[in-house]
Amino acid sequence: MRSIKPITALFASSEVFPFAKSGGLADVSYSLPRALSSMVAITVAMPLYRTIDREKYSIKPLGISAEINISGTPHHTELYGCEYQGMEYIFIHSPVLSERDYLYGPPGEGYVDNALRFGLFSYAIVDLVKRYRFDVLHLNDWQTALSALLVHRDPDLNTKTVFTIHNLAYQGIFDHHMLGALGISDEYFTMGTLEYYGNINLMKAAIAFADKVTTVSPQYAKEILTPEYGNGLEGFLQSHSDKLVGILNGIDSTHFSPKDDKALVKRYDSKSLSNKKVNKKACLKETGLQDIERPLFVFIGRLVAQKGLDILIDALDDIASLPINILIRGEGEEHYRSELKRLAAKHENISFIYGYDEAISHRIYASADFLMMPSLYEPCGLNQLIAMRYGTMPIVRSTGGLIDSVLPIEEYDASSTTGHGFVFSQETSDALSLSVTKAFESYAKKRSFNKVLRHNMQVDLSWGDRAKQYFELYTTLLSKTV
Ligand code: GLC
Repeated sequence: MRSIKPITALFASSEVFPFAKSGGLADVSYSLPRALSSMVAITVAMPLYRTIDREKYSIKPLGISAEINISGTPHHTELYGCEYQGMEYIFIHSPVLSERDYLYGPPGEGYVDNALRFGLFSYAIVDLVKRYRFDVLHLNDWQTALSALLVHRDPDLNTKTVFTIHNLAYQGIFDHHMLGALGISDEYFTMGTLEYYGNINLMKAAIAFADKVTTVSPQYAKEILTPEYGNGLEGFLQSHSDKLVGILNGIDSTHFSPKDDKALVKRYDSKSLSNKKVNKKACLKETGLQDIERPLFVFIGRLVAQKGLDILIDALDDIASLPINILIRGEGEEHYRSELKRLAAKHENISFIYGYDEAISHRIYASADFLMMPSLYEPCGLNQLIAMRYGTMPIVRSTGGLIDSVLPIEEYDASSTTGHGFVFSQETSDALSLSVTKAFESYAKKRSFNKVLRHNMQVDLSWGDRAKQYFELYTTLLSKTV
């Protein structure tokens, strides 16, 4: 009889929800391995930052420690673990990696020793692979990228590596001297490997040496091959395009489910859309906004240039002159914070709350009529997916994953398996304003507007088929070994 042994995989990420999160990477690192766990024996590994609540999640020492030697310096690392919602997590603790107030550095800055911190994380990941002999190592973003090279140069390892690019703008670029400090020889300081304008670029290590490179939407997979979106790596990516594939992200449809969401004031589904109003009423009360009949336009996200903050801030005086309410919530760069504060003080229909809180953001999706996402670039974007699931109409700029997940409302087709919303293409505040005005006008046509909202709520945004694409990718890579 043939015995069927499941594929074993280690999924490594520098942030995983709910333990540590700065952006969408954490959400995907939570939900994708869960979706894969019905097909693959999968473990998730991440750093044990000191900000993680060990007690809350019952994170315990596994009694395993290792001295990881990097360029002559031993780094003491200890493994911790927990089970959370049926998934197995391994946490790597080492003082230089873990004992900090922030994951990567204070807002807008990176710690000066991040190369060493995440280099060490990458070594520790490969140590886990050696210890437990995983078939597949799935790496995410530059913080794990060096692992692909370490697996490649180890003749004893035949683990297959998959590297997912969540955001090409962050590549892990450091001074040349760090190459030696990371225990990597000069033979890897070439244009075809880590060299990047005289520096080292850790993301290049994974693009060069991973067996497969994925990114989080098919559109972004095409865009990063162009100078506009390639962040200087377009040529390098082109030379590896045979192993590049775009798979659209999904969202965890249990975690994001307005009919079961305990964070909401009132739960609802596509048949009880009017219950959104109960949530909206509470939200207006909390934020000091007036008049429930006004449509509520929200922005939720990191306050960084990528998310189109300059366009948004520029458009706000104009947008606020419409009889609507605007709610902005997020954390990030100080100059955006002060501009938004100024605009909220100037217009009584703008409320700005600095900070991030998962439960509050669920309530905002449930309360809002529109979500604005004027992103300059967007590898995938998760907020437009969450919005559609919560019956909130997305207003997006046509870029990256926003193109793949939101079709223009003018082309509404009830049989489509994709959601619809307002889509604009120019990277200008005028284009955003115009789109918001159109959206505002359509809001009055309740019947047709709600029809689209209901359709969006029923579209399958879950990981289902998308996780299967990753599974097939793992399977294909492993079948190549025999
Ligand atoms: C990054 C990207 C975002 C993507 C997320 C998860 O945060 O900016 O577009 O959705 O990663 O892959």
